[in-house]
Amino acid sequence: MKQQLEQIRSQALAALDAAETPAALEELRVSLLGKKGALTAVLKQMGQLSPEERPIMGQVANAVRADIEAKLEERKATIHAAVLEQKLAAEAIDVTIPGDAVVMGHEHPMNQVLQQIKDLFVGMGYTIVDGPEVELADYNFTKLNTEEGHPARDRSDTFYFTDDDSVLLRTQTSSMQIRVMENAKPPICILAPGRVYRKDEADATHSPMFHQIEGLVVAENITMGNLKSALVTVMKQIYGQDAVMRFRPHHFPFTEPSCEMDMQCHKCHGTGEVDGAVCSTCHGEGWIELLGAGMVHPKVLSGCGIDPEKYSGFAFGMGLERMAMGRLKITDLRLIFDNDVRFLNQF
Ligand code: PHE
Repeated sequence: MKQQLEQIRSQALAALDAAETPAALEELRVSLLGKKGALTAVLKQMGQLSPEERPIMGQVANAVRADIEAKLEERKATIHAAVLEQKLAAEAIDVTIPGDAVVMGHEHPMNQVLQQIKDLFVGMGYTIVDGPEVELADYNFTKLNTEEGHPARDRSDTFYFTDDDSVLLRTQTSSMQIRVMENAKPPICILAPGRVYRKDEADATHSPMFHQIEGLVVAENITMGNLKSALVTVMKQIYGQDAVMRFRPHHFPFTEPSCEMDMQCHKCHGTGEVDGAVCSTCHGEGWIELLGAGMVHPKVLSGCGIDPEKYSGFAFGMGLERMAMGRLKITDLRLIFDNDVRFLNQF
């Protein structure tokens, strides 16, 4: 019997040493120490022993059980530690791995150019003003000497809100001329950038919504020379000292005389052709119209309570998108509004 017990002990310890999982340990515990286990089976034979042998075998059996239990505890602790270690290794966070970079955007190219233009005019003493995009026809047309029936008021060109055509989306920032002159006395020197709306089909140089930058200077002795010098100064800052510009006579109801200023097309350099085809940026014109301008019409001044005998003024309205296209060498206006990051990333 002693031999049997020794055998159980050595086999049990070896089996426990080889067990790798908590489940295998539990299985061994049951098969060794359980009711139907090997040790119990041996102990059941104790009855057959002589009274002298019984306590001695009892001692041996207890020692075997104690050894097995100690080994069980030891293996349990070891396996538990190993499992924990594995789990920690599997779930470990490597703080040294570089993180996912957060891509920062940047100012939209149009805002970059707008900011530059604003800075230049502010540097020359202009004040930036802001006004409504939903505008009264009075401010957008009537007080700008654009009477009823004028083609610019046509429903096919203008987004109206009301059946009587009295409220609209402003078609030009020139409405700001009136809003400023009604509320301020000369000297006036303001810049009014903002969105304007026209029923235009989108193409390389048109969009139903675009931005204008209105300028208005009213004081004593303001001349067309002041207008030209202000515009040429700014354009040379933006496009470089060798930029080519031209002034053409034009007509606006609210300025007299009126003109438009063009810049030589940056794509075809004024030839109107690219690789034998008509230049798509300037439609073969060789020039890109940047702005309308002129001397504020005396009727507009007096309509706002400013004496045209005493004061004169100039006004201009430039197209921001066209300015940006020339500045950033963008050949299609629609790209500015698509907001494709592959395009925007270039600026
Ligand atoms: N508002 C005119 C336009 O949109 C431009 C302009 C502004 C002309 C100021 C003269 C003076 O075409």
